[in-house]
Amino acid sequence: MPAYTPLTDEHLAFLRSCLSPDRVSTSAADRDLHARDQSFHAVRPPDVIVWPETTEEVSNVLRYANRQRIPVTPWGAGSSLEGNPIAVNGGIMLDFARMNRIVSVRAEDFQVDVQPGITRIELNKALARYGLFFTPEPGADATIGGMIANNAAGVKTIKYGATKDNVLRLEVVQASGAIIRVGTRARKDSSGYDLLHLFVGSEGTLGVITEATLKLAPIPADFSAVLAAFESVEQAIQSVVDIVGAGLEPSALEFVDKETVEALNRDKSMSFVVAPTVIMEFIGASDTEGLQMALEICKENGATNFAAAVGREERNKLWEVRHHTYESLVRLHPGFAQKIMDVAVPISRYPEIVLFADEVLAQHNLLGYKFGHAGDGNLHINIIHDPTDPEQLDRVERANGIIVERAIALEGTATGEHGVGIGKRRFIIQQHGPALDVMRQIKGLLDPNCILNPGKIFLDADDMTDVSSDRA
Ligand code: LAC
Ligand code: ZN
Repeated sequence: MPAYTPLTDEHLAFLRSCLSPDRVSTSAADRDLHARDQSFHAVRPPDVIVWPETTEEVSNVLRYANRQRIPVTPWGAGSSLEGNPIAVNGGIMLDFARMNRIVSVRAEDFQVDVQPGITRIELNKALARYGLFFTPEPGADATIGGMIANNAAGVKTIKYGATKDNVLRLEVVQASGAIIRVGTRARKDSSGYDLLHLFVGSEGTLGVITEATLKLAPIPADFSAVLAAFESVEQAIQSVVDIVGAGLEPSALEFVDKETVEALNRDKSMSFVVAPTVIMEFIGASDTEGLQMALEICKENGATNFAAAVGREERNKLWEVRHHTYESLVRLHPGFAQKIMDVAVPISRYPEIVLFADEVLAQHNLLGYKFGHAGDGNLHINIIHDPTDPEQLDRVERANGIIVERAIALEGTATGEHGVGIGKRRFIIQQHGPALDVMRQIKGLLDPNCILNPGKIFLDADDMTDVSSDRA
């Protein structure tokens, strides 16, 4: 690990003069609020939090931190699930709460320019009056900067793509303080290396995003959502494979196992049929051809019950309940932690990974809730465990490892949407092989002093300390 300089009064004085004293904090309360995300990775507060208001301020802080060898970690809403913004080496945290403006809406181009600190829901509220929205929808009200840094995705990815498919241009501050723009507002671009997508998903390790041009979509007039309940997991996921295979274009295609349905019923007072369930949504009215064909496919695969979420309100409620699955599980298992997995595989291998995961969980005597963006081949498994029991933690890590390794062997990934952060670093060599060396070279080139969000993505011999740190 590079030698970092511990924060001194002199550093703090610089930061206060560079921003303003009220936008620099070392208070215990502020440090605590920035010490963890939504995951159960070890808590670690940064040494100081600063709230920049301009790109120039970000640039000045980075230039200084780079010279002084102080780690810098960007912070959005703290809603990530893999420890991505935890300042594991302390240092400066850049909180983007005050860089949350919409810079300009370009409705005629279906684009918007935003600062990174605006949240997805805030942005979409403002865009609604143009009849437009930014499509990526992870459950959380993440900031746009965080979503880009993580290449977030969610229930609508099957129709609209992940964040990477909906970003056109970025302003990025490099570790040196240099400000660059990557990408273009044109729909197509064949000019040189695709630096835009180098920064998307780089988790704050290559540069700090200070502005983004996003691609927008029109808000559909109508959606139709249906829940199909099945007797077996096999029937449910085969229906997903068949719906995708038939070339239908759902706007969402989710799998929820029986246990998760039961948990949502209990926590949210819903009355979904307790069974392996496929939630599908199509743009258009309920007689839309795609939806009708999807329902036929479900029937052929033995669906035993259909329930439609009729009207905007009921549909919104359905997705709200689905989005809060993690929180519902927290409430149902007080005192327990959740290992949140998000492997993804090619759709044809989805049944295999789901059934394999079941076997592995049973062999390790673990309770795991399975759900996820089945249409994308993305599976979440939230494994419930007692974080104070080392024997259980060990079992969770072993089961997690076996399932992830299988997903990679099936030509998939350890993480479809939550990022490598801290917890997936152990799989990065296996997934990328020699390409990991290229990633390291890029990291070395763009951040030679390793000040940008150190301790993430790469599992260096030096940062082995928190390999299994699933809890403080
Ligand atoms: C979800 C999060 C876990 O899909 O990605 O609910
Ligand atoms: Zn998800």
